[in-house]
Amino acid sequence: ESGGSCIRCGALVSLSWVCCLRLAGFQVLILGVPCLFRLEKVGSYDSVNIIKPEDAAVLFKAEGHYPKRLRVEAWTSYRDYRNRKYGVLLKDGEDWKSNRIVLNKEVISPKVQGNFVPLLDEVGQDFVARVQKKIERTGQNEWTTDLSHELFKFALESVSHVLYGKRLGLLLDYIDPEAQHFIDCITLMFKTTTPMLYLPPALLRHTRAKVWKDHVEAWDGIFNQADRCIQSIYRQLSKNPDAGEKYPGVLASLLMLDKLSIEDIKASVTELMAGGVDTTSVSLLWTLYELARHPDLQEEIRAEISAARIASKGDVVQMLKMVPLIKGALKETLRLHPVAVSLQRYITEDIVLQNYHIPAGTLVQLGLYAMGRDHRIFPHPEQYRPSRWVRSQSHYFRNLSFGFGPRQCLGRRIAETEMQLFLIHMLENFRFEKQRQVEVRSTFELILLPEKPIMLTIKPLNASR
Ligand code: HEM
Repeated sequence: ESGGSCIRCGALVSLSWVCCLRLAGFQVLILGVPCLFRLEKVGSYDSVNIIKPEDAAVLFKAEGHYPKRLRVEAWTSYRDYRNRKYGVLLKDGEDWKSNRIVLNKEVISPKVQGNFVPLLDEVGQDFVARVQKKIERTGQNEWTTDLSHELFKFALESVSHVLYGKRLGLLLDYIDPEAQHFIDCITLMFKTTTPMLYLPPALLRHTRAKVWKDHVEAWDGIFNQADRCIQSIYRQLSKNPDAGEKYPGVLASLLMLDKLSIEDIKASVTELMAGGVDTTSVSLLWTLYELARHPDLQEEIRAEISAARIASKGDVVQMLKMVPLIKGALKETLRLHPVAVSLQRYITEDIVLQNYHIPAGTLVQLGLYAMGRDHRIFPHPEQYRPSRWVRSQSHYFRNLSFGFGPRQCLGRRIAETEMQLFLIHMLENFRFEKQRQVEVRSTFELILLPEKPIMLTIKPLNASR
């Protein structure tokens, strides 16, 4: 496990590069200097891979008007198979752009954040109440657990509240089996996508392979649940179109706006719902893991929250502007544990990277995992230091966990608000500890997940240490 060396110049390639590719199950052929190499054909595509912020800047300048990522064939194959429309995640070209412009206004524009805050704040508070109950039930004034399932429920409850303006009730003791089924389907969908990155889904479909059947079953479950939620809102809205002053949620806003077809709205809202569960829940789990390893940092952030709470006098939107360390902690989590291992773009013009000429049309991948762990880009990369994002160091093309430019993560505003509020509420109420000095690494299931359960001990803040 000592990294590798370039077959042309003999330069050493850092361990993180190789780790990153091994995580993705790739065999690597390294052609250039440690900053750039070309992969031998992997599955059905080959690509040029970069790591440096300066190269990322060149890449994103060449992404064109309709930035295009690597296609996840398994997902498009399912849509084609079931004759379902692509949403904004899978669309390309003008069709993508016209949908994305409408969705941006309702989902990611800074103006809508104020609408999301009360909805997400309510879910954060309910999560605290649920944890308090769990602690009481242990009779030991603490609760040691793998929080991943609870965080899944929290994330789905949060994103559903924002999308549909309604609660699913996932934080109650009795859970609607359909909602639990939806969560299971998302897990299965990601799990079955990974093998299909290397084997053509058409072949697997033709041979009736189990992985394809499971994948179809998973997406069917996701679409059915989203369809049920969408139908219910649609019915409600047609009965009572002027349902008062209350913010009705993203879906109802889109329907009332009447700028996208219902089928387009359905496709994108389903993708938002499916994309909004694993991403934030896993990032929160990693953040709690890192905070449990750094009790002093926990205290520092708690002090920041307490000062912000007082200064903002109960105005939560204002409070969110006063918590730079929390924002730094989330950036730091995503640096070390990015949801996406890489960002990809097909370049629309010729570019030069590290003295190599890369022709238009080439797929270029920016290794987020490798970049986040490179000491030339982040000094002492192994250290979890939220303050590195707060102090005035250059962040030039370094904060890329949500992607970049017009094709960046559509759910970013929801995700950031949801995660910040979650941490505020949890740190105001609990202390997090890790039981043993166990290091947890990542595993690749399209997104990066902890390779084993993360066990945390949660104690009420008023409990003695
Ligand atoms: C920690 C949380 C999250 C991270 C780190 C994350 C990361 C990403 C990344 C890296 C991309 C690709 C961007 C690019 O190519 O430039 C992306 C796309 C996307 N994400 Fe997220 N995401 C998160 C949460 C969410 C949530 C909560 C939602 C839904 C509510 C969501 C919905 C989407 C959608 C729909 C796209 C595709 C956008 C398009 O192609 O136009 N994501 N995300």
